[in-house]
Amino acid sequence: MSTLLGAASALRAAATATVEYDDVKRAVVTGAGLVGTHVAAAFAQAGVDVTLADVNPDDRYVERVAGSEVLVVRCDVADTGQIQRLFAQRTPDVVVHAAGMVGAAAQREPFRAYRENAYATACVADGARRAGIRRVCLVSSLAVYGRRLARTAPALAESTVPRPATAYGRTKLAGELALAAVGADLEVVVLRPSGIFGELPATRGGVAAGVVARAVRRALAGSQRVVLEAGLAGTEMLYAPDVGTAAWLAATSRRAAGHVYNVGTGHVASSDALRAAFTRAFGVELIVDGATTQAPLNVKAAASDLGFEARWDLAAALHDLGLRLDRPATTVAATVQGRLT
Ligand SMILES: NC(=O)c1ccc[n+]([C@@H]2O[C@H](COP(=O)([O-])OP(=O)(O)OC[C@H]3O[C@@H](n4cnc5c(N)ncnc54)[C@H](O)[C@@H]3O)[C@@H](O)[C@H]2O)c1
Repeated sequence: MSTLLGAASALRAAATATVEYDDVKRAVVTGAGLVGTHVAAAFAQAGVDVTLADVNPDDRYVERVAGSEVLVVRCDVADTGQIQRLFAQRTPDVVVHAAGMVGAAAQREPFRAYRENAYATACVADGARRAGIRRVCLVSSLAVYGRRLARTAPALAESTVPRPATAYGRTKLAGELALAAVGADLEVVVLRPSGIFGELPATRGGVAAGVVARAVRRALAGSQRVVLEAGLAGTEMLYAPDVGTAAWLAATSRRAAGHVYNVGTGHVASSDALRAAFTRAFGVELIVDGATTQAPLNVKAAASDLGFEARWDLAAALHDLGLRLDRPATTVAATVQGRLT
């Protein structure tokens, strides 16, 4: 794990070390939400010509996180005509499919969640197949593991039989199967990230991201005692730029084809660790409201095949998030536009 100051350079080193396909010049990333925009940022930093496709994009958010070089297009990826036109126009080498519907919203509207998480994945895979695109990486979720997540040991490996317990987890698993079925001729890679936090667009991103951002904003506003809601303690929390790095490595690693990878820190964040990280990042006292018992992800496969390791420790990530939330839009965009060397 990197230190507060070393995190950004360590991340850049990791992102360039394992690149095997050096001919990834153009990419389409679907979903201009928390995950897709950080994936687009990582690709743009690697010098890739990135198009970010979303049914309802927030251009200012994308510019803030990924910089102005990322082309944002309005596209419903669950519409076969729209996705085929997008791929024909942009001719990407790889697609990272991060559009979808997250947790609580998926529970409320399971049929819509099926469209966004499963059917849309089939549309993306079919469009990629027709356009002759080499590789599609799907951002799935640890939610496919289901109730096994509630156990403390052992850590969940990719070989664990998925038994999703929620509509969200079931539609994400259906998306993985849709990719395998429709994308049989393609190189497909599935990433199963843990809970993710980071700079998120208004009304989007998962529960964890919203809770952490609210707590960071309160710390920035000068509160000396900050409450972290929603039982985040005991869950695995990954900083969004690390997901971007994982997706970049999954897109460019030859041996990743056909594989599923857990993407996380490999450990859950205890109440004590959260309190210490908030104190280190902001000098505030954190009140942790509720805790969850969750098994960590086994992240060895992503480390050995992709060379991926979560580089941001909790305090470094919170500190960085505070800087991003506290700065004017132009300043933040300038800090993330530097290309990987
Ligand atoms: N946020 C997390 O903690 C987390 C953790 C693990 C996995 N994931 C997965 O990552 C993916 C993205 O999550 P997120 O946090 O970025 O969510 P988000 O809500 O921030 O962004 C999702 C984006 O997808 C877009 N979208 C939905 N349906 C679309 C369609 N048919 N066509 C085009 N765009 C569409 C939405 O407009 C939105 O901008 C989800 O599939 C989720 O399962 C997220």
